[in-house]
Amino acid sequence: MSGQIKISPSILSADFSKLGMEVTALDKAGADYIHVDVMDGHFVPNLTIGPEIIKKIRPFTKKIFDVHLMISPVDKYIEQFANSGADIITFHPEATDNTLKTIKLIKDCNKKVGISLKPKSEISLIHDVLDKIDLVLIMSVEPGFGGQKFMPEVVPKIKELKKIIDNNKLNVDLEIDGGINFVNAKQVKDAGANILVSGSTIFKENNGDLEKNIRLLRTK
Ligand code: DX5
Ligand code: ZN
Repeated sequence: MSGQIKISPSILSADFSKLGMEVTALDKAGADYIHVDVMDGHFVPNLTIGPEIIKKIRPFTKKIFDVHLMISPVDKYIEQFANSGADIITFHPEATDNTLKTIKLIKDCNKKVGISLKPKSEISLIHDVLDKIDLVLIMSVEPGFGGQKFMPEVVPKIKELKKIIDNNKLNVDLEIDGGINFVNAKQVKDAGANILVSGSTIFKENNGDLEKNIRLLRTK
């Protein structure tokens, strides 16, 4: 895991009528990754975007597409998301009947594998596969909507995962997603997170000054 903090803005808070331009603006503003929240109205109570739209916005940046799948079942869509231009494909263990099989499907597409834990999902769900994945996405809100309040009770989970990763010398990134702002950014970094997702803070604070908001989240 690199010691450097990465910022992955969620385009869920962007203006969907000009998504391509929004992605270019995030690129220019210093985003490391572009976080794409995919929701199916079934695994989570909201609907967002699918692989066809990802394919359309892919040419607007060369940055890493960090695709967060909140869909169930997930396996039958992996190839489509891989072909749409995703670089990291993250799924929820509850969305598959065989976590190892889903990991393999993603790896067979030559994509990086992430697994996401909802606020109440236990580390034990993924403990045995930590050495086979690239990233753990820890949710600090219930998945489904942007603009929710950060749940501080997930901080011990970040610390615990960081400890397991370090003790076992694993090369796994720790990404935090949900309600990240200029106050809790430091807290989650200190706990061990090295990738911060943010939608509302990046698009809405300081009159939507993307460059400033990305910089503040990185350096706070
Ligand atoms: C929630 C999504 C998050 C969310 C982040 O289900 O996974 O990526 O959009 O947005 P904020 O930063 O507004 O909580
Ligand atoms: Zn997300």
